[in-house]
Amino acid sequence: MTGPRQLDLLARESAHLAPGASEESALGRRVFVEGRGAVLTDLDGDQYIDFAAGTLTQSLGHCHPEVVAALTEQASKLWNVHDFATEGRAELCELLARLLPEELDTYAFFSTGAEVVEAALRAVQAVAEPGRNRVGALRHGFHGKTQGARMLVHWDIGNQAFAGNSVLGYSPYCYRCPLDLEYPSCGVRCATLVRRHIAEKPNVSALVFEPVLGAAGVIVPPPGYWEQISDACRENGVLLVADEVLTGGGRTGSFLASEQLGIEPDLVTLSKGTASGFPFAALAGRSSVLRHPAAGNAGSTASTYANNPLGIAAARATLEVVARDKLVDQVRELGAVMDERLAELKARFDVLGDVRGLGLLHGLEFVRDRESRAPAPDIAREVYLAALDLGLRTAIGGHVIRLAPPFTIDRALLDEGVTLLGKALERVTEASR
Ligand SMILES: Cc1ncc(COP(=O)(O)O)c(C=O)c1O
Repeated sequence: MTGPRQLDLLARESAHLAPGASEESALGRRVFVEGRGAVLTDLDGDQYIDFAAGTLTQSLGHCHPEVVAALTEQASKLWNVHDFATEGRAELCELLARLLPEELDTYAFFSTGAEVVEAALRAVQAVAEPGRNRVGALRHGFHGKTQGARMLVHWDIGNQAFAGNSVLGYSPYCYRCPLDLEYPSCGVRCATLVRRHIAEKPNVSALVFEPVLGAAGVIVPPPGYWEQISDACRENGVLLVADEVLTGGGRTGSFLASEQLGIEPDLVTLSKGTASGFPFAALAGRSSVLRHPAAGNAGSTASTYANNPLGIAAARATLEVVARDKLVDQVRELGAVMDERLAELKARFDVLGDVRGLGLLHGLEFVRDRESRAPAPDIAREVYLAALDLGLRTAIGGHVIRLAPPFTIDRALLDEGVTLLGKALERVTEASR
């Protein structure tokens, strides 16, 4: 339950705060005052294991000492010189060159996910051949809330979707297959249709996609999906723009999700997991795109907060720890533990229609019953709140709860978090009997 000091503060704030909060914070009604590692503390002193890792930002947990030290040092030195070169930026470029696939050797830095998606769209438009004036996107993809990014989003994100100029393809949503087929006998027909679409439309310049679709509920593609689509893009001169704002930086068990899914993107966007929650985003690309004579007009990679030294310091410190401590390997190991523990929960609770994930990114899809698979957002909300009351923070969106603990969480705390989730499920399912 939300404690009295928090209720008081929420009442004060609500007198002035515009509505429009996320479902998660509007429902959760908590006031957090401190985060240490994987644990949050609220204003009334209650503690929570943070399985949402900030907003999938805290790969190293909250307030990692090395990130705090890097930010503190930078904060006493230099905050903003527009996009002038800094030592930190040069070092971050070299670090990214070590962490990313070799061909992604050119970078630009921004401050939010939507901003870097816009930068990717600008680059695509700059280098597109005449006549290639459309951009492809996948159903269920999410790329941000600015107009350009929303052009790529075709589902209700709480705002009216803006269909704009993008071409749709089927996402690999096996649990709710739009073609009513079953994997593997389907032969990954969703990908065949995307492939056909790409081949038949000579005016598409790029496909912008999430390799694993995050916001829509952690939709993990089956083998064969990306292979087919990547080939189609290559054969038809369509650029592959992987939006790894959510998955990039190790979350799925490889530095880029693209790497383990057999995708070789031309451009990649990174943000959430790369700078410990400090506003930061990076565009990484092949030099053939980002150094193309038509790209890189004066100012195209600059903005008031793009390249800011604090964001760069946070990213450098975060990614250095990810690399040094081999945290991507740890994500795979802990991810396997999560797979196993969540499979146990699925076996116990019928309201869990589907449980899926990759690395330390999982989605739990709540249904009325397994037969009808009718989405049950009310049950998801009850479980979300029961878990919060028991001391576990998760991320909710509609009828899906997402779990994405910090990479640095210790095994005992990970186990405790899943146990609390099981208790929350027990409470909700017993109460409805
Ligand atoms: C894949 C993806 N792209 C873009 C965005 C937008 O990022 P931001 O909220 O920082 O604008 C998000 C945010 O969740 C995302 O998941």
